[in-house]
Amino acid sequence: MILLETKQLTRAYGGVIAVSKVDFEVEQGLITGLIGPNGAGKTTLFNNITGLDVPTSGTVHYKGKEITGKSAHSICRMGVARTFQNIRLFKELTVLENVMVGRHFKVGTSPTKGRFGSVLKSFISLGNEEFEMKKEALHWLDFFELGELSDELAKNLPYGHQRELEIARALATEPSLLFLDEPAAGMNPQETEHLMSTIRRIRALGITVVLIEHDMKLVMNICDTITVLNYGQNIAQGTPKEIKRNPLVIEAYLGKEDE
Ligand SMILES: Nc1ncnc2c1ncn2[C@@H]1O[C@H](COP(=O)(O)OP(=O)(O)OP(=O)(O)O)[C@@H](O)[C@H]1O
Ligand SMILES: [Mg+2]
Repeated sequence: MILLETKQLTRAYGGVIAVSKVDFEVEQGLITGLIGPNGAGKTTLFNNITGLDVPTSGTVHYKGKEITGKSAHSICRMGVARTFQNIRLFKELTVLENVMVGRHFKVGTSPTKGRFGSVLKSFISLGNEEFEMKKEALHWLDFFELGELSDELAKNLPYGHQRELEIARALATEPSLLFLDEPAAGMNPQETEHLMSTIRRIRALGITVVLIEHDMKLVMNICDTITVLNYGQNIAQGTPKEIKRNPLVIEAYLGKEDE
């Protein structure tokens, strides 16, 4: 079943066409890879699907319903979560509080712009739903084996753990569909290996995963299907095996890796 699809999605910034007439499909239950050279339009496609940016033309459908141009907050509440290429944690909040922020998005307390930090602090300590939320947040921290670090400030975590914490926060919104933008960026081989098994465990929970990743070993190992962007266009899609031997892909991307 197709969980999410874009049709002829285009995003132009003045003369730069970052994403050009992209048809992209996400099959429920699979791990989908989105690859392509730097500047190919991968992050822009994620942003236009998850409501951080609005397409110039084209559509996005999720569970059969059009969501084109909806706000990031409402798309998140429909069950689509994401992480960012550059880590976006609340560095001065604790590990636990960071995950509880994700939980609040699900429950529907919408933080006010500008007063974000103080509002966060106050509604985290609301008391009423606090116990349930804490329990949920701790559950996700345990999933990532970060439970013992729950009271640590996010900024004090090693880099690999910060990346995992961002995923934990996204999962706390209880998504059906999770977008990860270069989750292994900056990780050492051991951390990357660990991340691979974590992503498989996320899929085993019934969550559909889409990931942008430059680490070819990771992509080829865990993706069921891969879509390749080049200069904003969808140039190929298929299994890792098919993608590996696709001449267009080799020329656009993998060829460059070998040089
Ligand atoms: N807000 C913006 N304004 C103008 N141009 C932009 C904007 N966002 C992205 N672009 C341009 O759109 C193109 C695609 O960028 P994008 O970040 O989506 O690429 P990417 O595939 O994620 O690359 P990378 O692998 O380096 O992260 C690039 O040429 C980029 O400079
Ligand atoms: Mg990017």
